[in-house]
Amino acid sequence: MSGKILVIGATGTVGRHVVDGLLAKGEAVKAASRAGKPVAGAEGVVFDYAKPETFGPAFDGVDRAYVLLASGHADAKGLLLPVIEAAAARKVKVVLQSAFGVDADDSIPYRQVEIALEKSGTPYVILRPNWFSDNFHTFWKPGIDHGQIALPAAEGKSSFIDARDIAASGVAALTSSSFDGKAFNLTGPEALSYTQGAAILSEAIGKPVSYNAVSDETFIDMLTGAGVPADYASFLASIFYPVRQGWTAVVNGDVETLTGNAPRSLQTYAADYAAALTA
Ligand SMILES: NC(=O)c1ccc[n+]([C@@H]2O[C@H](COP(=O)([O-])OP(=O)(O)OC[C@H]3O[C@@H](n4cnc5c(N)ncnc54)[C@H](OP(=O)(O)O)[C@@H]3O)[C@@H](O)[C@H]2O)c1
Repeated sequence: MSGKILVIGATGTVGRHVVDGLLAKGEAVKAASRAGKPVAGAEGVVFDYAKPETFGPAFDGVDRAYVLLASGHADAKGLLLPVIEAAAARKVKVVLQSAFGVDADDSIPYRQVEIALEKSGTPYVILRPNWFSDNFHTFWKPGIDHGQIALPAAEGKSSFIDARDIAASGVAALTSSSFDGKAFNLTGPEALSYTQGAAILSEAIGKPVSYNAVSDETFIDMLTGAGVPADYASFLASIFYPVRQGWTAVVNGDVETLTGNAPRSLQTYAADYAAALTA
């Protein structure tokens, strides 16, 4: 493996840590985003799922790629299948960031992308992260500002995972062939309800934060009221169903298998991101 590594979503929540981790290992990185913004130590390259003409220049000189679908996009198949095809045509190894639980049913669009990758003939690793801890300082930050996170999760628990641990898993998968042809379900170290999560955040930032279990309808109204398109708001509400069912409460050792290190706790995340959580 001597070529460059393309990181899609390189300026985003996980991608930025993937870039840092690869650079720390001495890899040559092409940091892809629509803006093509250069990232310190890496080459910036313009890439847009919706613009296939950007694929050729992005994959030029590349033998491995970290592939994810940026948040805000619901059409996993429509946008990712052409990227998988372009990578496979060039025999580029793909580390695909999918999502926890999508292997429950082969009709789930993300699972269909995984299946296409499995059948593509190119080397691959699939990573299925659980709910990100980082959502608290990104998507749920307005709730934290108001002292209350409102989600349709009921008292369902999730083993929240720090984006730094997803990225470290990605770096391991990209820089070793030991994990090729396998899928890993990435979890944090402990299953927590949002009531428990809010208490941990509250303690770390020194201000009250509570959790309000709302209905799907209330959640969708809140999101659309804040400018989120209705179809994406409905999609986000739908992915809380597995949380309410308790399916996201699994804790396993896959992060440690990949990275050699136990995943970070929500307490560690909250302490490290206290400034971002209160900004
Ligand atoms: N959040 C969770 O709890 C969770 C849990 C499990 C799985 N996931 C999965 O993780 C994925 C999101 O990962 P993430 O949060 O690391 O991504 P992210 O931060 O939302 O990704 C943003 C990055 O993608 C780039 N980008 C945005 N639109 C693009 C486009 N049309 N074409 C190419 N690049 C584009 C952005 O740069 P520009 O704006 O310059 O283009 C930026 O570099 C989703 O697919 C989600 O299903 C999330």
